[in-house]
Amino acid sequence: MRILGIETSCDETGVALYDTEGGLLAHALHTQIALHAEYGGVVPELASRDHVRRIVPLVEDVARQAGLTLNEIDGVAYTQGPGLAGALLVGAGFASALAMALDKPVIGVHHLEGHLLSPLLSTAAPVFPFVALLVSGGHTQLYLVRSVGDYELLGDTLDDAAGEAFDKTAQLLGLPYPGGPALARLAQLGRPDRFHLPRPLIDAPHLDFSFSGLKTAVLTLVRRQERNGVFDEQARVDIACAFESAVVDVLVSKSVRGVEKTGYSRLVVAGGVGANHTLRKRLHEEATTRKIQIYFPETAFCTDNGAMIALAGALRLTKGARNYAFTVRPRWSLTELRGVETNI
Ligand code: KG4
Ligand code: ZN
Repeated sequence: MRILGIETSCDETGVALYDTEGGLLAHALHTQIALHAEYGGVVPELASRDHVRRIVPLVEDVARQAGLTLNEIDGVAYTQGPGLAGALLVGAGFASALAMALDKPVIGVHHLEGHLLSPLLSTAAPVFPFVALLVSGGHTQLYLVRSVGDYELLGDTLDDAAGEAFDKTAQLLGLPYPGGPALARLAQLGRPDRFHLPRPLIDAPHLDFSFSGLKTAVLTLVRRQERNGVFDEQARVDIACAFESAVVDVLVSKSVRGVEKTGYSRLVVAGGVGANHTLRKRLHEEATTRKIQIYFPETAFCTDNGAMIALAGALRLTKGARNYAFTVRPRWSLTELRGVETNI
């Protein structure tokens, strides 16, 4: 079954073709970074309009790459939520209209399910069950994943998500949008031990996260450096490094405890912050020591993309799931999903 996947939940238009036999056939992405940069963050109305402009050329591009006509696809999957309502509506409207015109099934996919299942795009894919650390711009969560759609929440953020903390801290350090990757690049040059920042909830018995206090600690530190006239380039670099190191410590510690608590041996890391080099390195080290098998999506599939939506849609469409409702769900909890039986 060949499924066209459409992702338009935020500031990236992602399109891909996934074949249940042959894997990922083609994918294409347009990022709106340049469009939103001058505003310092995503402007929802501009995001929706840009998705409208990009979606048709991207679909044509993907079909061309795969050497297929649209008549040769067997179904369409789109991100139904969570995300920006107007942006989601572009993907939902396009996918539903295309499916109707082709007389093919269509399904709305949960964006976080896409992230969670994205390591299955790799050749060395994990098998169920596993523990998943989902670290995106809006979510920092640990899940116990038994099968497609069977997700038990083990831990959640009580305030800011890790990605959000990266973005806000980057702004404090004067870095341009999108802050997370820019802060990570800066941190590579710094010393993690010059400034000590808190590791919120690291010793708490539960698996919840909290990152807003860390952001405040950075603000206090920056202000102190400014007052003392020593907020120079080296200070920015070392603060970025101290911040990244604090977030990574918390994420690593909670993930390892999550795995140990469930008695499972597999850990999957997904979502934009999963692209972070230091996080990947530290998790690899811990996993090796503790005999945990660890799985990351390829870096390109950590951040938003159409491939994860095509994959998640394919896993549901092959089991007969359909959805012609053409509704979007800007707010939608992953634990509301119903499971499907799969062979993976
Ligand atoms: O999963 P994603 O692409 O979009 C959402 O669904 O939210 O995640 C975006 C988040 C942003 O907060 C971005 O700053 C963060 O992921 N991010 C990173 C890195 N690359 C993206 N954070 C830290 N280090 C990175 N290399
Ligand atoms: Zn995402």
